Amino acid sequence: ALAQANGPSSLTFPELRHQLGQQDSVAEGYERQTVIRWGDPLAAEAPAFNPTAQTPDAQARQFGYNCDYIDFKPLPAGSDNSDHGLLCVNHEYTSTQLMFPGLPAGSAARQRVTAEQARVELMAHGVAVVEVRKRDGKWEYVQDSRFNRRITGETEMRLSGPAAGHDLLKTSADATGTRVLGTLNNCAGGNTPWGTVLTAEENFNQYFGGASAAEGPQAATHRRYGIVPRSSYAWPKFIDRFDLDKEPNEANRFGWVVEFDPYDPQSVPVKRTALGRFKHEGCHHAVSADGRVVVYMGDDERFDYVYKFVTARPWNPNDRAANRDLLDEGTLYVAKFLDDGKVQWMSLVQGEGPLTAANGFNSQADVLINTRRAADLLGATPMDRPEDVEPNPVTGRIYVMLTNNSRRTAQQLGAANPRAANLHGHIVEIIPPGAGTDKVDHAATEGRWAMFLMAGKPGIDAGAAYHRATSDQGWLSCPDNCSFDKKGRIWIATDGAPSAAGVADGLYAADTTGVGRALTRLFYQAPIGAEVCGPCFTPDASTVFLAIQHPAESAGSTFDRPSTRWPDFADNMPPRPSIVAIVKKGGGEIGA
Ligand code: FEO
Ligand code: CA
Ligand code: CA
Ligand code: CA
Repeated sequence: ALAQANGPSSLTFPELRHQLGQQDSVAEGYERQTVIRWGDPLAAEAPAFNPTAQTPDAQARQFGYNCDYIDFKPLPAGSDNSDHGLLCVNHEYTSTQLMFPGLPAGSAARQRVTAEQARVELMAHGVAVVEVRKRDGKWEYVQDSRFNRRITGETEMRLSGPAAGHDLLKTSADATGTRVLGTLNNCAGGNTPWGTVLTAEENFNQYFGGASAAEGPQAATHRRYGIVPRSSYAWPKFIDRFDLDKEPNEANRFGWVVEFDPYDPQSVPVKRTALGRFKHEGCHHAVSADGRVVVYMGDDERFDYVYKFVTARPWNPNDRAANRDLLDEGTLYVAKFLDDGKVQWMSLVQGEGPLTAANGFNSQADVLINTRRAADLLGATPMDRPEDVEPNPVTGRIYVMLTNNSRRTAQQLGAANPRAANLHGHIVEIIPPGAGTDKVDHAATEGRWAMFLMAGKPGIDAGAAYHRATSDQGWLSCPDNCSFDKKGRIWIATDGAPSAAGVADGLYAADTTGVGRALTRLFYQAPIGAEVCGPCFTPDASTVFLAIQHPAESAGSTFDRPSTRWPDFADNMPPRPSIVAIVKKGGGEIGA
């Protein structure tokens, strides 16, 4: 009977109706629990959240702002426990106008902060690791766990791989070019087969400023990465290293993928330069048939590219230490999507093709620090803002979330980006050799691609294309993150639907194979102003965690007059970016 009610879809939940309001909502039969919120203390002695008396020191020991990627690492380590583990959460950026009292709406707020508030912002960035457990069906976090950790914009980390130690990475504080303070704009991420977490630095450009961004010897590189004299944050005014006139190379130390061990709170995070420098959205892995590890990555900018990195050696399942620096050696590739359905992976190797000294690439470090320009020279396919690029572990196919690109013109169309003024985005599927078998060749330099769906409202938005049975509630706009359940179904989180389509951002699910392929269904909706990030299933898929990012970030909304006070709805509490857990009432697998 249920299958009948849901048509060809294997998903059994009743769909929500599209809306946009102060509350969030989840499909009937499911329960949403709040696990942890911005400001919640992460150590026994850490101060309770006081929104009108924030300090950098307090924020450095509390859950940060604008949660994004989520990873669930079971406890004990190595188990597949689904009731107890560590949540590893990115804190992408700060919605300054919603963080502090007395500031104007919109981005103008960022220029009005005090020196101390700028440091609170810096501490609200980075990553949190927090122990969570399910008790009597309810998820809670453990405030005094020895695993809890905040990685902030000031945490010391190491640069490794081919670019480490290069002159362009040296600063007055670090003559070695190998020690960096902090990680910034950590958007999506990923993990490795050996239990570490990867956190991706995305829009790092916006924290830096100074006249030399536009006129110094590095101006061309800075321009390609969107670094301009006027920072969107006030940080260069207060913190010297963000002023390029004082510290010309600091920006080169951001835009990397960072690896850390969530089970060891003392471990030093490592920026893996072999994976290239760009606006990394995420970094999702697959193990190729020969045991080499492949990470797929998107560069989230209009007309930027899809990448993958293939390790030089297979990973070793029997010796965790042997994998420690696996991500330092291997080959970085960028994708070309041909109109005939082929995809070619072109290697970014110094000395090959145009990547020579004559073009300014004297070493592999030059290629990595200037990854975007190297990929330009190879003729990679400019995409409609690549967000998550994530392999489906059941089928071996890879899904590329292309969130939107309002600037694509009719003269710039290709089969893989077929819509001009693409407001709603689309999802491309990459099919590597061996997909669908147990020997998928993720390391191959050729594969095929297919269109999975074109977002927007069918019948209204030109080009929108899904399964023909997609309902008036099931269409989506602006796909950003995705995840796969145990059955290989895709769960798509959106970012930008309120402005593009007038509906809340949400979480949608669809089959990827069979008669219900690309029949998307609406499962969860965020409160006004928020996007949905980081869908993350426990190993048994009985819980899906979601990061509800920037609630109340809508026009005219401020700390003093927010468009919603989600999730607390208390007069003395601002809106708080939070992690929620969704479980099925009475237990069982999500989506069934
Ligand atoms: Fe931070 Fe690409 O979304
Ligand atoms: Ca975001
Ligand atoms: Ca994102
Ligand atoms: Ca986004």
